[in-house]
Amino acid sequence: MLRTAVVALLVFCRHGAAGDGSRVLENAAVTGADGLSAKLERVFNLIATSGDGSSSGGAAAGSGASRSELRDALGLLLDVVEAHYSGLLRRMHELHDPEVAALLQERLLLQPSAASGTEGVSRSLAAASISSEASPSQTSFTAGFQPAPPHDASGTARVEARAGLARRLAKRRNRDAEADPEPVLEPEPTYRQPKPLPGRLSATSSPANLAGWCAELGDRLAALPANMSYPILRRLVAAVVVRAALDKGAVALTAAEEAAVRKLFVQLYEVHRRGAVHKGMMDYMHVSKSGGTSWCHAAQLNGCTTQRFDKYHVCGVKAFEDKVRWVDGAAHERITGHEPTRWSLHGTLRNATSPGCSARAAMMRANGWTYYSNEYTLTGGAAAMEDVELCSRHFVTAILFRDPVARLASHLRFLLLHYSRFMKEQGEAQGAAFYKTYANANASFWHAVAPAVTDNYFARTLLGEAVWHAPVGSLSPARHLPAARLVLLGTDLVVPLEVAPAVSSLLLRWGAGWPASFTDVHDKNIAELQAHFAFDPRPYLPGEPDMRRLSDDQLPVDGALYSLAGLIGQLDYLVYSEAAAAGVVPWEGIPDQPPPEDGPGAGDSVECGLLRGPAGRWAGSLPQHRSRRLPFVRRRPPASTPAEGTSSV
Ligand SMILES: *[C@@H]1O[C@H](CO)[C@@H](O)[C@H](O)[C@H]1NC(C)=O
Ligand SMILES: *[C@@H]1O[C@H](CO)[C@@H](O)[C@H](O)[C@H]1NC(C)=O
Ligand SMILES: *[C@@H]1O[C@H](CO)[C@@H](O)[C@H](O)[C@H]1NC(C)=O
Repeated sequence: MLRTAVVALLVFCRHGAAGDGSRVLENAAVTGADGLSAKLERVFNLIATSGDGSSSGGAAAGSGASRSELRDALGLLLDVVEAHYSGLLRRMHELHDPEVAALLQERLLLQPSAASGTEGVSRSLAAASISSEASPSQTSFTAGFQPAPPHDASGTARVEARAGLARRLAKRRNRDAEADPEPVLEPEPTYRQPKPLPGRLSATSSPANLAGWCAELGDRLAALPANMSYPILRRLVAAVVVRAALDKGAVALTAAEEAAVRKLFVQLYEVHRRGAVHKGMMDYMHVSKSGGTSWCHAAQLNGCTTQRFDKYHVCGVKAFEDKVRWVDGAAHERITGHEPTRWSLHGTLRNATSPGCSARAAMMRANGWTYYSNEYTLTGGAAAMEDVELCSRHFVTAILFRDPVARLASHLRFLLLHYSRFMKEQGEAQGAAFYKTYANANASFWHAVAPAVTDNYFARTLLGEAVWHAPVGSLSPARHLPAARLVLLGTDLVVPLEVAPAVSSLLLRWGAGWPASFTDVHDKNIAELQAHFAFDPRPYLPGEPDMRRLSDDQLPVDGALYSLAGLIGQLDYLVYSEAAAAGVVPWEGIPDQPPPEDGPGAGDSVECGLLRGPAGRWAGSLPQHRSRRLPFVRRRPPASTPAEGTSSV
């Protein structure tokens, strides 16, 4: 049963996120002011139906997702939280929040009769009192982020004034040492194993009274603490709304329903924005060969701060020990007969003292950094996957999700390109060994020398060091897939790389308040690298049957995750664009365009968008940590494809 669901989703995703869906989503980006039903048709690229919810067949193949496929995918998304209740992951902070936990026990206020039995749970007094406790600093800060008309001239002036102040302050010594009222390291929360839900969320029925349900849910959302951003809840709620619209078949939503849904979506966006501003820093999961250097470059262009922006755009923080571990040095030595060369840290875990989420946050705060990339795996899961920690208490978490088969091909090309060089540099014998080993190697060779890279690299990135180093072939659709799905669902910004630039730009603009997207920069193009090094790795890729085998290895776990990433992107797009249509802006004065130049000061007026330090405290005074900028250069015209070349398979 799981297998068929995965296959259906792959079909859905191919059309919904990576294929024709891009064009359809782009159309949606430029229109947007009509009814939800019409919008759903476009955003989800739904194919024509006969009106009873079933596909009209015929033209179905290749043209989009049917309503029943979408409904299944939404049901699967609703049940992603099961991994939390079954104990697959013990530290999903959002789901341990008392308000969220209570809402889920009530199954999002769906089928209330089901919750009235012995297992029905009402909110505890403790939870209620926690939520009513408002932090004064937060309240006054978020007041500056109230909805405003999209073209607010006074807002622009304010931002310009603030940027001027930023530059003046940056000239002074940096302000890192200023007393921080927060303790450096807060105690880790301790959690109890949650009580299972009274039933699966997918087994609920759509609300009989959609407008009433939206209003009731809105009241509950209003009770959420302001310090978190609740991506799981946002997507569950959006999924219920979309499912409700599908269940109405050909019947359009009434005006009252449209209004109630839009109000709810605006509220969901504001909950996200408030939490993002409170956290004020981004933790980006850089899955190699998925646009991560462009994302880091975009962070620089948006005026974020980090340990070091350089021409490689890695954006790692040295002390975090997130360096890439692509190659197994021992396997390289065994198979080639020569010493390992670069990137051969596979098998080397982080030190026991390496910082987890709170220590990372403390270090970022102490240095005045608002951004970093992690190109390895999440922390906390070194001994057991169950303890992996998504840093959602302290950071806006983000990931670019590329088609895993295209990612794999790109990674092999990259390794071949550079290893031909590195091994030649080691000596003549090593150079010759490259052609006897890496060149046209089979799937088993690649599994041996680059285990994680060639076996569900996305899931390994999301699940911590124990899983990252697990043997090839050991990741299972029954255990690792549901866990990875939950981490993905809990990630604030999930951007499918292949969607149209108009869509990804909207996700970054609203998700992070960034006017510059990764599609506005174009770094490290593989074709340019090949030209530079006068070496084309493509003839040295594995032959067709081995390439096929390697590609197939990615499908049961990463392929299914990619489908979910596509659906998450669509749901977030829907929520954000409804907020946009209602006149909400990410922040007053956000420029319509990315900064026209690239280089020192380019992003000063943006100040990392919504991410201006914890609770926005660094607004107008971002400390001077923008050293090592590139020389001032003119930006290239926006690239049509964000990825580094297309898949060669
Ligand atoms: C562990 O710490 C030592 C000493 O600080 C350092 O040399 C080493 O690189 C660290 N290991 C990793 C994997 O970063
Ligand atoms: C957020 O606020 C709530 C209620 O004020 C508190 O219990 C919780 O520990 C806070 N969480 C974080 C990550 O600061
Ligand atoms: C793959 O290539 C290696 C040499 O790198 C060889 O020893 C092995 O037998 C090959 N495996 C298959 C299945 O062809």
